[in-house]
Amino acid sequence: MESGSGRMEDAPVRVRVPGKVNLHLGVGPVGEDGYHPVVTVLQAVSITDEVVAEAADEVSVAVTGEGSGSTSDLRVGQDTGSVPLGPDNLAHRAAVLLAGRAGVSRGVRLTLHKQIPVAAGMAGGSADAAGALVACDALWGTRAAREDLVEMAAQLGSDVPFALAGGTAMGIGRGEQLSPVLSRGSYWWVFALAHGGLSTPAVYREYDRMLEELPERSELIRPAVARPDDVLAALRSGEPAALAAALGNDLQLPALRLRPELREVLAAGTRLGALGSLVSGSGPTCAFLAADEANATRLAADLEQAGVCRAALVATGPAPGALVVDDAQPR
Ligand code: C5P
Repeated sequence: MESGSGRMEDAPVRVRVPGKVNLHLGVGPVGEDGYHPVVTVLQAVSITDEVVAEAADEVSVAVTGEGSGSTSDLRVGQDTGSVPLGPDNLAHRAAVLLAGRAGVSRGVRLTLHKQIPVAAGMAGGSADAAGALVACDALWGTRAAREDLVEMAAQLGSDVPFALAGGTAMGIGRGEQLSPVLSRGSYWWVFALAHGGLSTPAVYREYDRMLEELPERSELIRPAVARPDDVLAALRSGEPAALAAALGNDLQLPALRLRPELREVLAAGTRLGALGSLVSGSGPTCAFLAADEANATRLAADLEQAGVCRAALVATGPAPGALVVDDAQPR
């Protein structure tokens, strides 16, 4: 039977959703709620996950690719050590949240085809949650209003609304209150993937420790300018070199304290011709802005050759937010 949206009822739904890099991440002192107020500028990038939703009686999650323990095997029903597969999985929680709100009593089998590295500072878990909201909404025909999806996204995590929105945006509060940013053209990035992940709360705690240890030297702790004006001006200009000069991330130093070897990754990128380099979000992925496609391709090959990372991926930004895609086959 066809649903009102033109798709066959109960046919699987495939949603593509982007990872992100923070072009600017200014972090304030921790609040009583345990969160840090941030002023951030985010760009969605073409390293994407695909979330496939299929009709089922219960909610379940399976994963392939990054975080599955293998690039080919499908792991179901057990913890992989990287992506949790039970009710703690953010995509699982997204499905349960939407079902509760919409009064849906059916389940869903969610398969996460992951390209975004796990616990890597690129909001991969948030992407899967945003993808699950959009995929379940289509599968169940719940037709949630956009503002309700955004509100559910914010409840699931600070980065989930941006994964829904995509593009380039400024985020305040916990990072979940978004406003659009004028951005000209597109940018070529290289992402150096690390072995192992970093926990976002652990990086924020390290930031707190640094503030306690060195309050009088806080300007050393906070290399990112407090205001994102330079990044916003660079995005309006569309000049990669201007954007490279304005990049800044207050979580970079705490991430480097937890993972000192990342200094060598950043230095290698600069040495090998990146216009700009920074830790992506809470790390440990390092992001490099390249002048153009040829430079990005060469930089990725050279970083892999230098042996400083697990893999180096070329990507463009900005990329669209969570979208239903029609192509029949997964990547
Ligand atoms: O919002 P989300 O669940 O993704 O946040 C994960 C953790 O990251 C929080 O529990 C908190 O420890 C930390 N966090 C923070 N300040 C933010 C965002 C996240 O301290 N603005």
